Amino acid sequence: MKKRVLSGIQPSGNLHIGNYFGMIKRMIEYQESSDLFLFVANLHSLTTLSDAEELKRLTLEAATDLLALGVDPDLCYFWVQSDVPETTELAWILSCLTPMGLMERAHSYKDKIVKGIQPNLGLFNYPALMAADILINQADVVPVGKDQKQHLEMARDMAIKFNNIYGEIFKVPEPEIPDEIAVIPGTDGQKMSKSYKNTIPIFGEDAVIKKAVMGIVTDSKGVDEPKNPEGNTIYELYKLMTGPAEAKALADRFKKGGLGYGDAKKMLLEKIQKTFKPYREKHQELKNHPKKVETILAKGAEKVRALSHQTMLRVREATGLKY
Ligand code: ADP
Ligand code: TRP
Repeated sequence: MKKRVLSGIQPSGNLHIGNYFGMIKRMIEYQESSDLFLFVANLHSLTTLSDAEELKRLTLEAATDLLALGVDPDLCYFWVQSDVPETTELAWILSCLTPMGLMERAHSYKDKIVKGIQPNLGLFNYPALMAADILINQADVVPVGKDQKQHLEMARDMAIKFNNIYGEIFKVPEPEIPDEIAVIPGTDGQKMSKSYKNTIPIFGEDAVIKKAVMGIVTDSKGVDEPKNPEGNTIYELYKLMTGPAEAKALADRFKKGGLGYGDAKKMLLEKIQKTFKPYREKHQELKNHPKKVETILAKGAEKVRALSHQTMLRVREATGLKY
């Protein structure tokens, strides 16, 4: 049987090529090799966002972006978190099994408080909702970044505790943590991230993408000087979009000297334009037909809800909620 791989993506706008090569591309590949469960985590966004129009807009935008990039609703389960209310029911049940001490140790909660975000109960309980997302879908594997590792451990603890008390209902999920090499550099050489304002957006205006690429920070070596391709952002990004032979050709030109950073950036820009052209076209088409996206999401929710409902019948029985 194929493994169930599950991931949630918070709708936070303006996907960049770091998101694509760091995570979305991998998800798309899972559609073929596994049973992929992928959702837009709008309930998690509610912990920090209280503008209704903004949340709606971001949710539809995230769904549109992912569909344009190759998420295929016929090959996977794809839905919006809040369309499956059984998940919040399970989150409550899991909260009642979870010691305060475990929740208080969550790094992400502590970090957000340090950053000055006003904590609310939802933010505190975020790991229980995330555990519910994972457990209700009986996921085998959850690919997560390092920042989410502790949340996954908490989900495992909750599954084990639930199964001990009430009987074996939940699978205990395994994390899959990609190695450091998978970090995509941004235009200033640090990790590409919205928070660092160093991104190359996928669906941005042509001029914005061009400005970002031409603004990549390099050393000040002249055109003729030999340059080291390793750790050079232009080369690191270029390599993501070519086969090994073409990447080596660029590395050789850098090492030999005679290739200036300006020309190399133009080559990279062309590569980005070519790589993302079909996705950008699909994106435009979906934006012109938002009803299509809404229909896909409604069908996706229906499909996944049928499974969640079955699991919750067992949970209600096991916990005594069904009287
Ligand atoms: P950002 O840092 O821009 O806010 P998010 O934290 O929303 O991005 O990341 C969403 C997903 O994209 C996560 O799975 C994360 O691991 C992945 N991702 C984001 N930036 C990068 C990057 N520079 N390299 C690799 N993966 C990334
Ligand atoms: N918390 C995750 C993030 O911010 C998103 C998320 C919500 C998630 N539920 C999940 C990820 C379940 C994996 C599994 O990135």
